Amino acid sequence: MRVLVLGSDGYLGWPTCMYLSQAGYEVIGADNYFRRTAAVELDCEALVPTPNLIQRAKIWEQVTGRKIITHIGDVTNYEFLLSLFEAYHPDAVIHYAEQPSAPYSMLNRDKAAFTIQNNLLSTLNIVYAVKEISPDCHIIKLGTMGEYGTPDIDIEEGWIQIEHGGRKDKFLFPRQASSLYHTTKIQDTDLLWFYVRTWGLRVTDLMQGPVYGISTDEADMDEKLIPNFHYDEIFGTVLNRFIVQAVAGYPLTVYGKGGQIRGYLNIKDTLQCVHLSATQPAKSGELRIFNQMSETFSVNELVERVKIVGKKLGYDININHLENPRREKENHYYNPKYTGLLKLGVKPHYLTDEVIEGMFRIVETYKDYINRDAIFRGVKW
Ligand SMILES: NC(=O)c1ccc[n+]([C@@H]2O[C@H](COP(=O)([O-])OP(=O)(O)OC[C@H]3O[C@@H](n4cnc5c(N)ncnc54)[C@H](O)[C@@H]3O)[C@@H](O)[C@H]2O)c1
Repeated sequence: MRVLVLGSDGYLGWPTCMYLSQAGYEVIGADNYFRRTAAVELDCEALVPTPNLIQRAKIWEQVTGRKIITHIGDVTNYEFLLSLFEAYHPDAVIHYAEQPSAPYSMLNRDKAAFTIQNNLLSTLNIVYAVKEISPDCHIIKLGTMGEYGTPDIDIEEGWIQIEHGGRKDKFLFPRQASSLYHTTKIQDTDLLWFYVRTWGLRVTDLMQGPVYGISTDEADMDEKLIPNFHYDEIFGTVLNRFIVQAVAGYPLTVYGKGGQIRGYLNIKDTLQCVHLSATQPAKSGELRIFNQMSETFSVNELVERVKIVGKKLGYDININHLENPRREKENHYYNPKYTGLLKLGVKPHYLTDEVIEGMFRIVETYKDYINRDAIFRGVKW
């Protein structure tokens, strides 16, 4: 199977390339280094200095003897994307190549405009390239659990049956995001659903929760293969950030009351989810939606877990309940369903104390690289 991974230099893209390559897939990765450039611009670079995509692919080949083909280019450039489809005719395309940060999208008008343009145009281009060159190619798209927001009803897996005026029909589950970034993901889903209905494409839209972790079987083979691990307010996800804050002796930055509940997953589970989605593709004319998460936690529960493990390792961890810079509910109902990927065969890695300790150990190794100024910027909306 030949898989095109777009956004292959990213936190999830690079480990996905290695995972699929190790599983025997022919992997082609493309990235325009947006995230690296943005991190330099905003002085919030990843904790571990990582070789660039071309260098990483060379290291991967030295370590495993396996080849990952790389291309540097922008997915919003249609000629570039089309050239990849023409050259490789992929069986599946995994679309990670978006601006992935809520705070980034809320920084100012230019970042908002970039987020809309980058995320929607990249998705549109993929739809067109598939239609023109490889109509049977399975599009695996990363959405987010943030598309649903925090409604006061159970969250279904993508779709809901509605009875109204004595009649019934099935619709996309109501979505109400709490940042512009998350709103572009809703728009992506709508775009995909339109083209699935119109052109009969096969699409899997993965509503992923915040990912944590740095260790994967492949990344553990060589320090230089580590994923880019962000701990800053712009690109870092919450548990990754808390662990770096704990190691840096920085009071954990809890926004408001800390009752915000989300569905989390280990980076190893992301790899399983996209892999199993690729091996069991959506049907032609189907928009298949899975809620991609392994368990739910409130922010306060994460803090407690980090504190317990940190204390065992000798850290004195303090908490700072900051005035919430975001507009979000701090105490709310949250009950998402997430059985679809389990049915495909995903075996979740749950957040144990050992997993948290493993993250502490890796972060400790790179402690001297921590930039305290990147930890909290207070991007408000
Ligand atoms: N990390 C998470 O917790 C999480 C949670 C839910 C959804 N997601 C989604 O998963 C995807 C990957 O996230 P990530 O955490 O790996 O982010 P990331 O920023 O580390 O990776 C995205 C990669 O895509 C590249 N990219 C962006 N725009 C591009 C373009 N126009 N052309 C080519 N390359 C481009 C970036 O340079 C980057 O390397 C994103 O779509 C994100 O929204 C991530």
